[in-house]
Amino acid sequence: MSTTDDNTNDVSPEEAEETTEETPEESSQPDYDSSGDEEECHCSGPGLPILFFIIGFVAMLIFGWFIFPEFLYCKIKQPIDFNHVLHMEEVDKGCESCHFFREDGTFAGVPKNAQCIKCHAEVQGDDPDELEFVEKYISNGVEVPWLSYSRQPDCVFFSHAAHVKLANMDCAECHGPMGESTSLKVYEKNWLSQYSRDIWGKSVLNMLNMKQHTWERMKMYDCAVCHMEKTGRETSVQTAKDGCFVCHK
Ligand code: HEC
Ligand code: HEC
Ligand code: HEC
Ligand code: HEC
Ligand code: HEC
Repeated sequence: MSTTDDNTNDVSPEEAEETTEETPEESSQPDYDSSGDEEECHCSGPGLPILFFIIGFVAMLIFGWFIFPEFLYCKIKQPIDFNHVLHMEEVDKGCESCHFFREDGTFAGVPKNAQCIKCHAEVQGDDPDELEFVEKYISNGVEVPWLSYSRQPDCVFFSHAAHVKLANMDCAECHGPMGESTSLKVYEKNWLSQYSRDIWGKSVLNMLNMKQHTWERMKMYDCAVCHMEKTGRETSVQTAKDGCFVCHK
Protein backbone atom coordinates (compact mmCIF):
# COMPACT_ATOMS: atom_id res chain seq x y z
CA MET A 1 0.00 0.00 0.00
CA SER A 2 2.67 2.45 1.00
CA THR A 3 4.66 2.00 -2.23
CA THR A 4 1.62 2.89 -4.38
CA ASP A 5 1.11 5.98 -2.28
CA ASP A 6 4.71 6.96 -2.89
CA ASN A 7 4.29 6.54 -6.65
CA THR A 8 1.16 8.70 -6.84
CA ASN A 9 3.02 11.44 -5.08
CA ASP A 10 5.67 11.48 -7.81
CA VAL A 11 3.43 11.58 -10.92
CA SER A 12 0.52 13.67 -12.30
CA PRO A 13 -3.10 12.43 -11.76
CA GLU A 14 -3.45 11.32 -15.46
CA GLU A 15 -0.29 9.29 -15.30
CA ALA A 16 -1.43 7.88 -12.01
CA GLU A 17 -4.57 6.56 -13.67
CA GLU A 18 -2.48 4.93 -16.36
CA THR A 19 -0.21 3.26 -13.88
CA THR A 20 -3.05 1.96 -11.73
CA GLU A 21 -4.72 0.62 -14.86
CA GLU A 22 -1.57 -1.08 -15.93
CA THR A 23 -0.87 -2.66 -12.61
CA PRO A 24 -3.43 -5.49 -12.83
CA GLU A 25 -2.44 -6.21 -16.43
CA GLU A 26 1.21 -6.36 -15.56
CA SER A 27 0.63 -8.56 -12.58
CA SER A 28 -1.70 -10.83 -14.57
CA GLN A 29 0.82 -11.34 -17.34
CA PRO A 30 3.12 -13.61 -15.34
CA ASP A 31 0.02 -15.46 -14.06
CA TYR A 32 -0.64 -16.92 -17.50
CA ASP A 33 3.03 -17.61 -18.17
CA SER A 34 3.61 -19.41 -14.94
CA SER A 35 0.47 -21.43 -15.69
CA GLY A 36 -1.44 -21.41 -12.45
CA ASP A 37 1.25 -20.55 -9.97
CA GLU A 38 -1.23 -18.18 -8.40
CA GLU A 39 -4.84 -19.22 -8.01
CA GLU A 40 -6.35 -15.81 -8.81
CA CYS A 41 -7.79 -15.40 -12.33
CA HIS A 42 -8.40 -11.96 -13.76
CA CYS A 43 -11.28 -12.27 -16.20
CA SER A 44 -12.81 -9.14 -17.68
CA GLY A 45 -16.24 -8.74 -16.11
CA PRO A 46 -19.07 -11.27 -15.58
CA GLY A 47 -19.64 -11.75 -19.38
CA LEU A 48 -16.93 -14.31 -19.89
CA PRO A 49 -17.96 -16.75 -17.12
CA ILE A 50 -21.56 -16.60 -18.38
CA LEU A 51 -20.38 -17.22 -21.93
CA PHE A 52 -18.29 -20.18 -20.74
CA PHE A 53 -21.27 -21.48 -18.80
CA ILE A 54 -23.53 -21.28 -21.86
CA ILE A 55 -20.96 -22.95 -24.10
CA GLY A 56 -20.44 -25.68 -21.51
CA PHE A 57 -24.16 -26.12 -21.01
CA VAL A 58 -24.89 -26.42 -24.73
CA ALA A 59 -21.97 -28.81 -25.16
CA MET A 60 -23.33 -30.91 -22.31
CA LEU A 61 -26.82 -31.00 -23.84
CA ILE A 62 -25.45 -32.02 -27.23
CA PHE A 63 -23.35 -34.68 -25.57
CA GLY A 64 -26.21 -35.95 -23.39
CA TRP A 65 -28.87 -35.94 -26.07
CA PHE A 66 -27.06 -36.90 -29.21
CA ILE A 67 -23.61 -38.34 -28.52
CA PHE A 68 -24.02 -40.32 -25.31
CA PRO A 69 -27.06 -42.34 -26.56
CA GLU A 70 -24.92 -43.52 -29.48
CA PHE A 71 -22.52 -45.14 -27.01
CA LEU A 72 -25.40 -47.18 -25.62
CA TYR A 73 -25.58 -49.29 -28.75
CA CYS A 74 -23.18 -51.99 -29.80
CA LYS A 75 -23.26 -53.17 -33.39
CA ILE A 76 -23.51 -56.89 -34.04
CA LYS A 77 -23.38 -58.55 -37.46
CA GLN A 78 -25.96 -61.19 -38.31
CA PRO A 79 -24.46 -64.73 -38.28
CA ILE A 80 -24.80 -64.85 -42.10
CA ASP A 81 -26.10 -62.39 -44.63
CA PHE A 82 -29.41 -62.89 -46.43
CA ASN A 83 -30.64 -61.44 -49.72
CA HIS A 84 -34.42 -60.88 -49.78
CA VAL A 85 -34.55 -59.74 -53.42
CA LEU A 86 -32.73 -62.83 -54.69
CA HIS A 87 -35.00 -65.14 -52.71
CA MET A 88 -38.25 -63.46 -53.69
CA GLU A 89 -37.42 -64.50 -57.26
CA GLU A 90 -36.85 -68.12 -56.22
CA VAL A 91 -39.76 -68.84 -53.91
CA ASP A 92 -43.33 -69.34 -55.08
CA LYS A 93 -45.41 -68.10 -52.12
CA GLY A 94 -43.78 -64.71 -51.62
CA CYS A 95 -43.02 -63.59 -48.08
CA GLU A 96 -45.23 -66.38 -46.74
CA SER A 97 -42.76 -69.00 -47.97
CA CYS A 98 -40.63 -68.07 -44.98
CA HIS A 99 -42.73 -65.83 -42.73
CA PHE A 100 -46.08 -67.55 -42.38
CA PHE A 101 -49.02 -68.05 -40.05
CA ARG A 102 -49.39 -71.47 -38.45
CA GLU A 103 -52.71 -73.33 -38.41
CA ASP A 104 -53.57 -71.87 -35.00
CA GLY A 105 -53.09 -68.31 -36.21
CA THR A 106 -49.75 -67.72 -34.50
CA PHE A 107 -47.00 -66.19 -36.58
CA ALA A 108 -43.90 -68.26 -37.30
CA GLY A 109 -41.69 -65.15 -37.35
CA VAL A 110 -38.01 -65.72 -37.99
CA PRO A 111 -37.55 -68.60 -40.49
CA LYS A 112 -36.16 -71.98 -39.47
CA ASN A 113 -33.92 -74.27 -41.51
CA ALA A 114 -37.05 -76.19 -42.46
CA GLN A 115 -37.99 -73.32 -44.79
CA CYS A 116 -34.61 -73.40 -46.49
CA ILE A 117 -33.65 -77.05 -46.71
CA LYS A 118 -35.69 -77.73 -49.83
CA CYS A 119 -33.24 -75.63 -51.83
CA HIS A 120 -30.14 -75.67 -49.64
CA ALA A 121 -29.71 -79.35 -48.79
CA GLU A 122 -26.65 -78.96 -50.95
CA VAL A 123 -24.57 -75.93 -51.87
CA GLN A 124 -26.01 -74.32 -54.98
CA GLY A 125 -23.60 -71.56 -55.95
CA ASP A 126 -20.34 -70.04 -54.83
CA ASP A 127 -21.65 -67.42 -52.44
CA PRO A 128 -19.59 -67.56 -49.21
CA ASP A 129 -22.71 -66.88 -47.08
CA GLU A 130 -24.54 -69.79 -48.67
CA LEU A 131 -21.47 -72.04 -48.20
CA GLU A 132 -21.33 -71.12 -44.51
CA PHE A 133 -25.08 -71.55 -44.17
CA VAL A 134 -25.05 -75.06 -45.62
CA GLU A 135 -21.83 -76.30 -44.00
CA LYS A 136 -22.20 -74.77 -40.56
CA TYR A 137 -25.96 -74.89 -40.03
CA ILE A 138 -27.89 -77.12 -42.47
CA SER A 139 -25.38 -80.00 -42.42
CA ASN A 140 -25.13 -79.95 -38.63
CA GLY A 141 -28.84 -79.51 -38.08
CA VAL A 142 -28.23 -76.27 -36.19
CA GLU A 143 -30.64 -73.33 -36.48
CA VAL A 144 -29.13 -70.02 -37.50
CA PRO A 145 -29.06 -67.71 -34.45
CA TRP A 146 -30.68 -64.82 -36.33
CA LEU A 147 -30.91 -61.55 -34.45
CA SER A 148 -34.45 -60.20 -34.48
CA TYR A 149 -34.55 -56.45 -35.11
CA SER A 150 -38.13 -55.93 -34.00
CA ARG A 151 -38.39 -58.35 -31.06
CA GLN A 152 -40.15 -56.60 -28.18
CA PRO A 153 -39.25 -57.07 -24.49
CA ASP A 154 -40.61 -60.26 -22.92
CA CYS A 155 -43.42 -58.44 -21.13
CA VAL A 156 -45.06 -57.45 -24.44
CA PHE A 157 -47.62 -59.48 -26.31
CA PHE A 158 -47.93 -58.69 -30.00
CA SER A 159 -50.16 -60.51 -32.43
CA HIS A 160 -49.34 -60.47 -36.14
CA ALA A 161 -52.73 -61.95 -36.95
CA ALA A 162 -54.55 -58.96 -35.41
CA HIS A 163 -52.62 -56.63 -37.68
CA VAL A 164 -51.96 -58.57 -40.87
CA LYS A 165 -55.12 -60.71 -41.07
CA LEU A 166 -57.76 -58.61 -39.27
CA ALA A 167 -56.53 -55.09 -39.95
CA ASN A 168 -55.10 -56.03 -43.36
CA MET A 169 -51.84 -54.23 -42.80
CA ASP A 170 -48.78 -54.48 -44.98
CA CYS A 171 -45.52 -55.86 -43.52
CA ALA A 172 -43.70 -52.76 -44.77
CA GLU A 173 -45.91 -50.43 -42.71
CA CYS A 174 -44.22 -51.61 -39.53
CA HIS A 175 -40.98 -53.10 -40.85
CA GLY A 176 -40.05 -50.78 -43.69
CA PRO A 177 -38.51 -52.03 -46.92
CA MET A 178 -36.84 -55.04 -45.27
CA GLY A 179 -38.46 -57.42 -47.76
CA GLU A 180 -36.83 -55.54 -50.65
CA SER A 181 -33.31 -55.51 -49.23
CA THR A 182 -30.35 -57.31 -50.76
CA SER A 183 -28.51 -57.59 -47.49
CA LEU A 184 -29.33 -57.64 -43.77
CA LYS A 185 -28.54 -54.47 -41.86
CA VAL A 186 -26.25 -54.47 -38.85
CA TYR A 187 -28.07 -55.28 -35.61
CA GLU A 188 -27.71 -52.62 -32.93
CA LYS A 189 -28.20 -53.69 -29.35
CA ASN A 190 -28.67 -51.32 -26.43
CA TRP A 191 -26.38 -52.85 -23.82
CA LEU A 192 -28.32 -51.30 -20.94
CA SER A 193 -31.84 -52.39 -21.86
CA GLN A 194 -30.79 -55.17 -24.28
CA TYR A 195 -33.37 -53.80 -26.72
CA SER A 196 -32.77 -53.67 -30.44
CA ARG A 197 -32.34 -50.23 -31.98
CA ASP A 198 -35.64 -50.71 -33.82
CA ILE A 199 -37.58 -50.46 -30.53
CA TRP A 200 -36.41 -47.08 -29.27
CA GLY A 201 -35.17 -45.66 -32.57
CA LYS A 202 -32.47 -43.19 -33.44
CA SER A 203 -31.83 -40.78 -30.58
CA VAL A 204 -31.43 -37.79 -32.89
CA LEU A 205 -34.83 -38.42 -34.45
CA ASN A 206 -36.33 -38.92 -31.00
CA MET A 207 -34.93 -35.67 -29.64
CA LEU A 208 -36.13 -33.62 -32.57
CA ASN A 209 -39.35 -35.66 -32.72
CA MET A 210 -38.68 -36.26 -36.38
CA LYS A 211 -40.02 -39.78 -36.79
CA GLN A 212 -41.41 -40.07 -40.30
CA HIS A 213 -42.12 -43.77 -40.68
CA THR A 214 -43.70 -46.35 -38.39
CA TRP A 215 -40.65 -48.58 -38.64
CA GLU A 216 -38.19 -46.02 -37.28
CA ARG A 217 -39.31 -46.79 -33.74
CA MET A 218 -41.79 -49.11 -31.95
CA LYS A 219 -42.12 -47.94 -28.36
CA MET A 220 -45.34 -48.32 -26.37
CA TYR A 221 -46.29 -44.81 -27.39
CA ASP A 222 -45.88 -45.71 -31.08
CA CYS A 223 -48.28 -48.65 -30.78
CA ALA A 224 -50.76 -46.29 -29.10
CA VAL A 225 -50.49 -43.49 -31.64
CA CYS A 226 -51.25 -45.82 -34.54
CA HIS A 227 -54.15 -47.41 -32.68
CA MET A 228 -55.68 -43.98 -32.16
CA GLU A 229 -55.05 -42.93 -35.77
CA LYS A 230 -56.36 -46.14 -37.33
CA THR A 231 -59.45 -46.48 -35.21
CA GLY A 232 -60.28 -42.77 -35.08
CA ARG A 233 -60.88 -43.17 -31.38
CA GLU A 234 -59.67 -40.55 -28.93
CA THR A 235 -58.28 -43.27 -26.76
CA SER A 236 -56.33 -46.39 -27.51
CA VAL A 237 -56.40 -49.79 -25.84
CA GLN A 238 -53.80 -48.38 -23.46
CA THR A 239 -56.19 -46.01 -21.78
CA ALA A 240 -59.11 -48.39 -21.53
CA LYS A 241 -59.86 -49.95 -18.17
CA ASP A 242 -57.61 -53.00 -17.68
CA GLY A 243 -56.20 -52.14 -21.12
CA CYS A 244 -52.66 -52.84 -20.10
CA PHE A 245 -53.09 -56.58 -20.46
CA VAL A 246 -54.06 -56.30 -24.09
CA CYS A 247 -50.36 -55.88 -24.84
CA HIS A 248 -48.71 -57.02 -21.64
CA LYS A 249 -48.28 -60.51 -20.34
C1 HEC B 1 -36.81 -71.77 -53.45
C2 HEC B 1 -35.45 -72.08 -53.16
C3 HEC B 1 -34.77 -71.40 -52.00
C4 HEC B 1 -35.19 -71.33 -50.68
C5 HEC B 1 -36.49 -71.85 -50.08
C6 HEC B 1 -34.13 -70.68 -49.95
N1 HEC B 1 -33.12 -70.35 -50.80
FE1 HEC B 1 -31.39 -69.42 -50.28
N2 HEC B 1 -30.83 -69.36 -52.22
C7 HEC B 1 -31.52 -69.93 -53.26
C8 HEC B 1 -30.77 -69.72 -54.50
C9 HEC B 1 -31.16 -70.21 -55.88
C10 HEC B 1 -29.63 -68.97 -54.14
C11 HEC B 1 -28.52 -68.50 -55.05
C12 HEC B 1 -27.42 -69.54 -55.02
C13 HEC B 1 -26.09 -68.94 -54.94
O1 HEC B 1 -25.72 -68.19 -55.81
O2 HEC B 1 -25.39 -69.23 -53.97
C14 HEC B 1 -29.70 -68.77 -52.71
C15 HEC B 1 -28.74 -68.11 -51.97
C16 HEC B 1 -28.70 -68.04 -50.61
C17 HEC B 1 -27.65 -67.42 -49.84
C18 HEC B 1 -26.46 -66.69 -50.39
C19 HEC B 1 -26.93 -65.34 -50.92
C20 HEC B 1 -27.44 -64.47 -49.83
O3 HEC B 1 -28.67 -64.49 -49.64
O4 HEC B 1 -26.70 -63.79 -49.16
C21 HEC B 1 -27.98 -67.58 -48.52
C22 HEC B 1 -27.18 -67.12 -47.32
C23 HEC B 1 -29.23 -68.29 -48.47
N3 HEC B 1 -29.63 -68.55 -49.76
C24 HEC B 1 -29.90 -68.59 -47.31
C25 HEC B 1 -31.19 -69.10 -47.28
C26 HEC B 1 -31.95 -69.28 -46.06
C27 HEC B 1 -31.46 -68.92 -44.67
C28 HEC B 1 -33.15 -69.79 -46.41
C29 HEC B 1 -34.31 -70.14 -45.52
C30 HEC B 1 -34.80 -69.09 -44.64
C31 HEC B 1 -33.15 -69.93 -47.86
N4 HEC B 1 -31.94 -69.50 -48.35
C32 HEC B 1 -34.18 -70.45 -48.59
C33 HEC B 1 -32.70 -70.62 -53.18
C34 HEC B 1 -33.46 -70.77 -52.06
C1 HEC C 1 -36.56 -67.46 -48.42
C2 HEC C 1 -37.00 -66.99 -47.14
C3 HEC C 1 -37.52 -65.58 -46.96
C4 HEC C 1 -38.47 -64.93 -47.71
C5 HEC C 1 -39.20 -65.42 -48.95
C6 HEC C 1 -38.68 -63.67 -47.08
N1 HEC C 1 -37.88 -63.56 -45.97
FE1 HEC C 1 -37.84 -62.04 -44.63
N2 HEC C 1 -36.31 -62.94 -43.64
C7 HEC C 1 -35.74 -64.14 -43.97
C8 HEC C 1 -34.58 -64.35 -43.14
C9 HEC C 1 -33.66 -65.56 -43.18
C10 HEC C 1 -34.48 -63.23 -42.27
C11 HEC C 1 -33.41 -62.96 -41.21
C12 HEC C 1 -33.98 -63.19 -39.87
C13 HEC C 1 -34.00 -61.95 -39.01
O1 HEC C 1 -33.58 -60.88 -39.42
O2 HEC C 1 -34.49 -62.03 -37.90
C14 HEC C 1 -35.60 -62.37 -42.62
C15 HEC C 1 -35.90 -61.18 -41.96
C16 HEC C 1 -37.02 -60.42 -42.23
C17 HEC C 1 -37.45 -59.30 -41.42
C18 HEC C 1 -36.78 -58.81 -40.17
C19 HEC C 1 -37.44 -59.42 -38.96
C20 HEC C 1 -36.75 -58.96 -37.70
O3 HEC C 1 -37.29 -58.11 -37.03
O4 HEC C 1 -35.65 -59.43 -37.41
C21 HEC C 1 -38.56 -58.79 -42.01
C22 HEC C 1 -39.38 -57.62 -41.54
C23 HEC C 1 -38.82 -59.58 -43.19
N3 HEC C 1 -37.88 -60.56 -43.28
C24 HEC C 1 -39.84 -59.33 -44.05
C25 HEC C 1 -40.04 -60.04 -45.22
C26 HEC C 1 -41.01 -59.66 -46.24
C27 HEC C 1 -41.90 -58.43 -46.17
C28 HEC C 1 -40.91 -60.57 -47.23
C29 HEC C 1 -41.66 -60.57 -48.54
C30 HEC C 1 -41.44 -59.39 -49.38
C31 HEC C 1 -39.91 -61.55 -46.82
N4 HEC C 1 -39.39 -61.17 -45.61
C32 HEC C 1 -39.57 -62.70 -47.53
C33 HEC C 1 -36.20 -65.01 -44.92
C34 HEC C 1 -37.15 -64.71 -45.87
C1 HEC D 1 -48.52 -53.50 -36.85
C2 HEC D 1 -47.13 -53.64 -37.13
C3 HEC D 1 -46.61 -54.90 -37.79
C4 HEC D 1 -46.99 -55.46 -38.98
C5 HEC D 1 -48.06 -54.97 -39.94
C6 HEC D 1 -46.12 -56.61 -39.20
N1 HEC D 1 -45.26 -56.72 -38.15
FE1 HEC D 1 -43.81 -58.09 -37.94
N2 HEC D 1 -43.41 -57.45 -36.07
C7 HEC D 1 -44.04 -56.38 -35.47
C8 HEC D 1 -43.65 -56.34 -34.07
C9 HEC D 1 -44.11 -55.32 -33.05
C10 HEC D 1 -42.77 -57.44 -33.86
C11 HEC D 1 -42.15 -57.91 -32.54
C12 HEC D 1 -43.09 -58.98 -32.00
C13 HEC D 1 -42.67 -59.59 -30.70
O1 HEC D 1 -41.65 -59.22 -30.12
O2 HEC D 1 -43.38 -60.49 -30.22
C14 HEC D 1 -42.63 -58.09 -35.15
C15 HEC D 1 -41.80 -59.19 -35.39
C16 HEC D 1 -41.58 -59.73 -36.65
C17 HEC D 1 -40.57 -60.72 -36.97
C18 HEC D 1 -39.57 -61.30 -35.97
C19 HEC D 1 -40.27 -62.31 -35.15
C20 HEC D 1 -39.48 -62.74 -33.97
O3 HEC D 1 -39.77 -63.84 -33.47
O4 HEC D 1 -38.60 -62.03 -33.49
C21 HEC D 1 -40.68 -61.01 -38.30
C22 HEC D 1 -39.87 -62.00 -39.09
C23 HEC D 1 -41.77 -60.21 -38.81
N3 HEC D 1 -42.28 -59.44 -37.77
C24 HEC D 1 -42.20 -60.23 -40.10
C25 HEC D 1 -43.37 -59.63 -40.53
C26 HEC D 1 -43.98 -59.88 -41.82
C27 HEC D 1 -43.42 -60.81 -42.88
C28 HEC D 1 -45.10 -59.11 -41.88
C29 HEC D 1 -46.15 -59.07 -43.00
C30 HEC D 1 -46.80 -60.32 -43.25
C31 HEC D 1 -45.19 -58.37 -40.64
N4 HEC D 1 -44.14 -58.73 -39.84
C32 HEC D 1 -46.17 -57.44 -40.30
C33 HEC D 1 -44.87 -55.48 -36.06
C34 HEC D 1 -45.52 -55.70 -37.26
C1 HEC E 1 -49.17 -48.72 -37.82
C2 HEC E 1 -50.31 -49.09 -37.01
C3 HEC E 1 -50.17 -49.99 -35.82
C4 HEC E 1 -49.08 -50.16 -35.02
C5 HEC E 1 -47.73 -49.51 -35.13
C6 HEC E 1 -49.47 -51.09 -34.00
N1 HEC E 1 -50.76 -51.49 -34.18
FE1 HEC E 1 -51.81 -52.78 -32.99
N2 HEC E 1 -53.41 -52.57 -34.19
C7 HEC E 1 -53.50 -51.75 -35.29
C8 HEC E 1 -54.82 -51.88 -35.87
C9 HEC E 1 -55.32 -51.14 -37.11
C10 HEC E 1 -55.52 -52.80 -35.08
C11 HEC E 1 -56.96 -53.25 -35.21
C12 HEC E 1 -57.71 -52.15 -34.50
C13 HEC E 1 -58.99 -52.54 -33.90
O1 HEC E 1 -59.63 -53.43 -34.42
O2 HEC E 1 -59.32 -51.92 -32.87
C14 HEC E 1 -54.61 -53.23 -34.02
C15 HEC E 1 -54.93 -54.12 -33.02
C16 HEC E 1 -54.10 -54.51 -31.99
C17 HEC E 1 -54.44 -55.45 -30.95
C18 HEC E 1 -55.75 -56.12 -30.77
C19 HEC E 1 -56.57 -55.08 -30.05
C20 HEC E 1 -57.90 -55.52 -29.60
O3 HEC E 1 -58.60 -54.61 -29.15
O4 HEC E 1 -58.21 -56.70 -29.73
C21 HEC E 1 -53.34 -55.55 -30.14
C22 HEC E 1 -53.18 -56.40 -28.91
C23 HEC E 1 -52.32 -54.69 -30.68
N3 HEC E 1 -52.81 -54.08 -31.79
C24 HEC E 1 -51.06 -54.55 -30.13
C25 HEC E 1 -50.08 -53.75 -30.67
C26 HEC E 1 -48.75 -53.58 -30.10
C27 HEC E 1 -48.24 -54.25 -28.85
C28 HEC E 1 -48.10 -52.71 -30.91
C29 HEC E 1 -46.70 -52.16 -30.75
C30 HEC E 1 -45.64 -53.09 -30.52
C31 HEC E 1 -48.98 -52.35 -31.99
N4 HEC E 1 -50.16 -53.00 -31.81
C32 HEC E 1 -48.62 -51.50 -33.01
C33 HEC E 1 -52.51 -50.94 -35.79
C34 HEC E 1 -51.23 -50.82 -35.28
C1 HEC F 1 -50.83 -51.19 -27.40
C2 HEC F 1 -50.01 -52.04 -26.59
C3 HEC F 1 -49.68 -51.65 -25.15
C4 HEC F 1 -50.58 -51.37 -24.14
C5 HEC F 1 -52.08 -51.36 -24.20
C6 HEC F 1 -49.78 -51.07 -22.98
N1 HEC F 1 -48.44 -51.20 -23.28
FE1 HEC F 1 -46.88 -50.95 -21.98
N2 HEC F 1 -45.55 -51.41 -23.48
C7 HEC F 1 -45.91 -51.72 -24.76
C8 HEC F 1 -44.69 -51.97 -25.52
C9 HEC F 1 -44.63 -52.34 -27.00
C10 HEC F 1 -43.60 -51.79 -24.63
C11 HEC F 1 -42.10 -51.99 -24.92
C12 HEC F 1 -41.51 -50.83 -25.67
C13 HEC F 1 -41.21 -49.69 -24.79
O1 HEC F 1 -40.36 -49.82 -23.92
O2 HEC F 1 -41.84 -48.62 -24.98
C14 HEC F 1 -44.18 -51.43 -23.34
C15 HEC F 1 -43.44 -51.18 -22.20
C16 HEC F 1 -44.00 -50.89 -20.98
C17 HEC F 1 -43.23 -50.67 -19.78
C18 HEC F 1 -41.71 -50.70 -19.70
C19 HEC F 1 -41.27 -52.11 -19.57
C20 HEC F 1 -39.87 -52.29 -20.01
O3 HEC F 1 -39.28 -53.31 -19.63
O4 HEC F 1 -39.35 -51.49 -20.77
C21 HEC F 1 -44.12 -50.44 -18.79
C22 HEC F 1 -43.78 -50.18 -17.33
C23 HEC F 1 -45.44 -50.49 -19.34
N3 HEC F 1 -45.34 -50.78 -20.68
C24 HEC F 1 -46.61 -50.30 -18.64
C25 HEC F 1 -47.89 -50.29 -19.19
C26 HEC F 1 -49.11 -49.98 -18.45
C27 HEC F 1 -49.17 -49.63 -16.99
C28 HEC F 1 -50.15 -50.09 -19.34
C29 HEC F 1 -51.63 -49.81 -19.09
C30 HEC F 1 -51.96 -48.45 -18.72
C31 HEC F 1 -49.57 -50.46 -20.62
N4 HEC F 1 -48.22 -50.58 -20.49
C32 HEC F 1 -50.31 -50.71 -21.75
C33 HEC F 1 -47.18 -51.79 -25.29
C34 HEC F 1 -48.35 -51.55 -24.60
